[in-house]
Amino acid sequence: MTHPLIDQLTLEEKASLVSGATFWTTRAVERVGLEAATLTDGPHGVRMQTAGADQLGINDSHPATAFPTAAALGSTWDAELLEEIGRALGAESRRLNVDVLLGPGVNIKRSPLCGRNFEYFSEDPLIAGTLATAWVKGVQSQGVGASLKHYAANNQETDRMRISAEVDERTLREIYFPAFETTVKQAQPATLMCSYNRINGTYASQNHWLLTDVLRGDWGFEGYVMSDWGAVADPVAAVAAGLDLEMPSSGERGPKAIVQAVQAGTLDETVLDKAVSRILTTHDRLRAARSETGFEPQAHHELARRAAAAGSVLLKNQDGLLPLSPEEGGRIAVIGEFALTPRYQGAGSSHLNPTRLDDALTAIQAATSREVVFEAGFRLEDTDQEDADVLLAAAVEAAGEAEVVIAFLGLPDAEESEGFDRTHLALPASQLQLLQALRQTGTKIVVVLSNGSVVTLGEVNDAAAAVLEMWLGGQAGGSAAADILFGVTEPEGRLAETVPHRLQDTPAFVNWPGNEGKVVYGERVYVGYRWYDTTGQDVAYPFGHGLGYTTFSYSDATVTVADPTVAAAVVEVTVTNTGQRAGAEVVQVYVADPVSGVDRPQHELRAFAKVRLAAGDSQRVRLELDERAFAFWSSQGSSPGWRVEPGEFVVEIGASSRDLRHTESITLDVAVPPVELGAESTYEEWATHPQGQKVLQEFFDGLGEAGSLWRDPETAKLLGNMPMRSLLSFSGTTDIQGTISGLLERVAQAG
Ligand code: BGC
Repeated sequence: MTHPLIDQLTLEEKASLVSGATFWTTRAVERVGLEAATLTDGPHGVRMQTAGADQLGINDSHPATAFPTAAALGSTWDAELLEEIGRALGAESRRLNVDVLLGPGVNIKRSPLCGRNFEYFSEDPLIAGTLATAWVKGVQSQGVGASLKHYAANNQETDRMRISAEVDERTLREIYFPAFETTVKQAQPATLMCSYNRINGTYASQNHWLLTDVLRGDWGFEGYVMSDWGAVADPVAAVAAGLDLEMPSSGERGPKAIVQAVQAGTLDETVLDKAVSRILTTHDRLRAARSETGFEPQAHHELARRAAAAGSVLLKNQDGLLPLSPEEGGRIAVIGEFALTPRYQGAGSSHLNPTRLDDALTAIQAATSREVVFEAGFRLEDTDQEDADVLLAAAVEAAGEAEVVIAFLGLPDAEESEGFDRTHLALPASQLQLLQALRQTGTKIVVVLSNGSVVTLGEVNDAAAAVLEMWLGGQAGGSAAADILFGVTEPEGRLAETVPHRLQDTPAFVNWPGNEGKVVYGERVYVGYRWYDTTGQDVAYPFGHGLGYTTFSYSDATVTVADPTVAAAVVEVTVTNTGQRAGAEVVQVYVADPVSGVDRPQHELRAFAKVRLAAGDSQRVRLELDERAFAFWSSQGSSPGWRVEPGEFVVEIGASSRDLRHTESITLDVAVPPVELGAESTYEEWATHPQGQKVLQEFFDGLGEAGSLWRDPETAKLLGNMPMRSLLSFSGTTDIQGTISGLLERVAQAG
């Protein structure tokens, strides 16, 4: 739809509108009353820079609530909560006059090494898409636009501005696209941010297939696409591909090139008009959706605290060590600099200036009447041996005299950030050394982790009776940790990413981070648990895992297929809280396709629901599986697309990808996906094709005795892989092309 102002704008004005005005604003055209819009990071809080801050200005921003990072929010598996956070972010954006908040990040965690994994939800696209949809709806309910990023295949920081992700279409469609697709279809984000990288050689910002054919053609995206900051190499090629806004400002470089291209006839002016219209229409819509809104910093802080607990994952809790009693018991030794100096957010463009910051030590002291002592144990920055020895000795002494140690360990800022990837998965050596020494004291240890992406936990599991993963939990992460440690709240999170034993076990290990400008996605669709579960590898903690302070049982599970000719099913199960406390459970439904025309993962998460139940209470949970839950992307033939093959599917209901409580086989009697026959199709493809089979039979019958060989089942098996052209040459046919054309004609007539 053309925006009504298009006709009033000059070519120069239109060209100027598809390039930013400053680092954070779009251009205005005062002559026709067009206002500029303000775009700002995102995604875990509003990073609105103060006047005069440097352009990259990582630190100089107005105070805003630092919500838990996406790593923690992903682990909540809680769409309602994400929508609530979205609304809060929208309200804070409004207060600071922000029109578009740059988030959420929905890239898939292809490798735990990605420096920016803290900004992404999961290794699984269903979780990422479901949570992003809720987040976007929440933000946009306040008349503020979201910017779904980074589209697409931006899964590493190494060479992120140039690298070409070499990835096949099926893998894109099944793993790297669905979170974008779902969010676009279900929430219509106002904007979408393209990634820096290339995909199969073409920059995302100049990729017509990506920005136009798939995004708008297949998914119906109605908003506008902006570039990641500095991602446009060729402004004319970008507009032609479907990019609407280059950010930040490129001065006059972009607009000038676009004017020249239109004048030279190399860029169609209607394409430029469309880009401008999309930007203006989107901004109009956002402004029209606004109503009065306000925000209470304290209420948002409390929401951040609740969310941090909802995303924290209790990995291990031997003998019910947690929760600790706030009143009874001896001295508690809190060890680890992170208890005092929280690591609660990631470094880079999402870095915020929080409205307040809770440290765990203060929160623990406030939560208990027990004696609490503190020792730093290690420094967050490098130090000399003497200093390290003194810190360690003091920590060991405190631990020896305590009834329980709470050790706050994790990754310091310098180890993970936007802009670079990690090179290993271990916790810093100084912390592991400390842990060993603490273990020697014999005092029971609880480890609380702060990290934006998984770390290997071998030594931690050996030393600690309880392990609580807090991720980068936002400004209230410290008080949320205390809430959980003393049982004020439940650790409600479940792993949205697998914790492997070793880096070598991870799916992208041999293809990371690429060579000579290319990174090959050789593991294809086998990302995260799809890889570990298909290869049957042992892992430290499986996808979906997380303990609470209560227990749940699953009963009366049913999987109903209303009409087997339609690929859909309804899963129902009764979940009962069998413990003594209220708690939350995440019911997970996986689907497997044991016999398939293409290789498929062992099973894939296709539905989930978070239920909160009081002790003793039950709830019947109902989850729907649609066609996509059974489908794979087929790139074969002239019309690639989603295919469901008839036959058996296994539906699994469980509490993690490896804790399956109920498994049921169903049979779908859907139509066999049509196979396009041709000279290159094999004998087997012809013989299993509904019309091909008949035509082939007639053909061999017509050959008389010579044809009988082909009808012999043993021979058919032997020759199954033979393309029709060579099969015919073996059968003595001379006019192979002509014969195949004749057969194909008959197939067409029979169909
Ligand atoms: C990041 C984006 C961010 C933008 C603006 C880029 O470097 O990749 O996620 O929104 O900067 O700060």
